[in-house]
Amino acid sequence: MSRPSSRLVVISNRVAVPKARGAAGAQGGLAGALNAALRDRGGLWFGWSGQESEDRTGNINVQRGGGVTTATIDLSTRDVDEYYNGYANSTLWPLFHYRIDLAEFENETGRGYERVNERFAESVMPLIEEDDLVWVHDYHLIPIGDRLRELGAKNRIGFFLHTPWPPTRLLTSLPFHERLVRTMLSYNLIGFQTEEWLSSFVHYCETELGAEVEKESGRITHEGRTTTARAYPIGIDWDHFQEQGDSGEARQATQRLLSSTRHRTGMIGVDRLDYSKGLPERIDGIGRFFDQHPERVRDLVFIQIAPPSREDVESYQKIRAELEQKTGQINGARSEVDLVPIRYVNQGYSHAELYGFFRGAKIGLVTPLRDGMNLVAKEYVAAQDPNDPGVLILSDFAGAAHQLGCGGNGALLVNPHSPDALARAIETALDMPLGERKSRYEAMIETVRDDNVQAWTKTFCSDLATG
Ligand code: F6P
Repeated sequence: MSRPSSRLVVISNRVAVPKARGAAGAQGGLAGALNAALRDRGGLWFGWSGQESEDRTGNINVQRGGGVTTATIDLSTRDVDEYYNGYANSTLWPLFHYRIDLAEFENETGRGYERVNERFAESVMPLIEEDDLVWVHDYHLIPIGDRLRELGAKNRIGFFLHTPWPPTRLLTSLPFHERLVRTMLSYNLIGFQTEEWLSSFVHYCETELGAEVEKESGRITHEGRTTTARAYPIGIDWDHFQEQGDSGEARQATQRLLSSTRHRTGMIGVDRLDYSKGLPERIDGIGRFFDQHPERVRDLVFIQIAPPSREDVESYQKIRAELEQKTGQINGARSEVDLVPIRYVNQGYSHAELYGFFRGAKIGLVTPLRDGMNLVAKEYVAAQDPNDPGVLILSDFAGAAHQLGCGGNGALLVNPHSPDALARAIETALDMPLGERKSRYEAMIETVRDDNVQAWTKTFCSDLATG
């Protein structure tokens, strides 16, 4: 049995290498969370460098910085096309976000996905020591645990999925779905963000694989192999985020936002530019609010920070064009010489700046159509002034809704597909009295503070180590 003090080896596609740690909004939640996990616990973080090169010498680039050691490899252009842009982000990502209409089912990219997983496994295997705990992350690398076993790894190996897990009938539309899911039985522990995604996975194992499931313990047994599957909701790096909030950079960002919005209420959204985030639907909801309340156009300014993401994938190019068109339409119709209702920003910002913007914005709009968790929702709450907190409008379809709904007394939960529901929530948030804002904030803040990324790492790693 591994000791709890074993070294942690984290494997993920995206690695926040010291020299290239980017703007927080552009990175997604995974990079920030793993950075925190490794900074606190020590260990090694292995993955893709983010660079393309045709170098096949197996060179591994090791870097140390900020208490984290990273080891990365480059991928060839073909690997990136087939594995990252192809199977991971044009097949699994849309399917896992219930967007079968956007999913491409090409055997070629499926083969590329397996080839790259193989290559990752062969590259990381010599770096893994006997007592290491190995923790694999996300949909890019589902089969890597199985490949590591084939190469002789006897370590405890865990897997965590940051995205939703789709219902069985959706997943079965994926050619070779059984082949993919079977590889997961090589892991000792599988983590999901919510009970909802966990129960879809368990349902698949029971109905499609005919596995035996012990519901209480989460143990799943099939063809002589046993894994355990449980929900481990991820949290934010609370202490680090509060430190950022104490900085001059954060205070300046709040001032910047407040002085530019003046007497208007700032409403903010921060998302990677991804169709799962419900951005055009959000703009429709804002448009509906302005249509229903033309007299309130001067009350509100909406700031959407949306750093571009996965720009080589066609569906991402389309969503960007659609968003630009919708934003332009509303701004064209509703702007005046001294007023632009929607500020649409394609760049990313540091954590300190985001903290400052969140604090200055009295409404946070987090309305994905489907999201594994969504840490922006938690960061928005964490950045609020307890004496004058803002209101979080949150999609019912984000994993975070399970923790922040608070039985109707936390975030305002909405159906992100409905422009009317969004318009109503914006009106409620704008008019909400201070007493209600405080009581909703108080209902949410405890889970945001206590169920943080350190608690997530500790619980997962201790379950992984002890079995
Ligand atoms: O959190 C989900 C996720 O897909 C991560 O795996 C990923 O690192 C992040 O979003 C950002 O996406 P990408 O790595 O493609 O830029």
